[in-house]
Amino acid sequence: MEKTTVLYTGKAKQMWATDDPDILWVEYMDQATALNGKKKVQIDGKGTLNRQISSLLFEELNAQGFPTHYLKTLDDTTMLVKKCTMIPLEAVVRNFASGSFERKFKVEHLKPLVPAVHEFFYKSDALDDPFINNEQAIALGFADKETIDEIHAMSDRVNAYLKERFANIGIDLVDFKLEFGRLSDGTFVLADELSPDNMRLVDEATGNSLDKDVFRKDQGPLTPVYASVLKRLKESK
Ligand code: C5P
Repeated sequence: MEKTTVLYTGKAKQMWATDDPDILWVEYMDQATALNGKKKVQIDGKGTLNRQISSLLFEELNAQGFPTHYLKTLDDTTMLVKKCTMIPLEAVVRNFASGSFERKFKVEHLKPLVPAVHEFFYKSDALDDPFINNEQAIALGFADKETIDEIHAMSDRVNAYLKERFANIGIDLVDFKLEFGRLSDGTFVLADELSPDNMRLVDEATGNSLDKDVFRKDQGPLTPVYASVLKRLKESK
């Protein structure tokens, strides 16, 4: 398998085409960003850790029968994924209040949210990823009603799996962001990445953040925190 041309350079990953038209090459970069890219820092080792955590969780979801884009790991920072057309929506699920939800509603930090809250954000750097509701997403042609329902159902299933997986290693899954796409035959798949860049994790014993909030809030070095999450996940496999 050879990579050919760069398709897209994001804030933390670079996507390449390969000599197989159905397969993409994903390189996880040593970069952390916050405030939609306004805060940007090089962090050695971060790409490898995010690739490792993402591979581990995608492999588990694949084994559980979830449809995902993940194929296999190539090296420390690289994984191969099935090529899909991305749905331009970020699907956020919240089990506890934090981040933009806490700021918006001025509620107590980590207030339990029952039922889990689902939110969509429209993927647009130019617009700063604005909140978008179901009707707006349908009316603007970003997804049809069936796709919205599929995203909701799959997000709930992923939440159930990850919540229990992290609870078993003493970590609360506060919230996370998923992205979805469709393969050329129309199959709906979970795509993008599954790492502490895209989820909030809180250590039940200490109350400490084990995710990108450490970087967002300048709480110290990020890689030891991500390494501890990876270690706990690996030791409990
Ligand atoms: O900032 P907010 O509270 O809306 O983020 C909710 C969840 O979505 C967090 O876990 C955050 O890391 C994730 N997120 C993301 N990419 C974005 C925005 C939020 O992964 N562009």
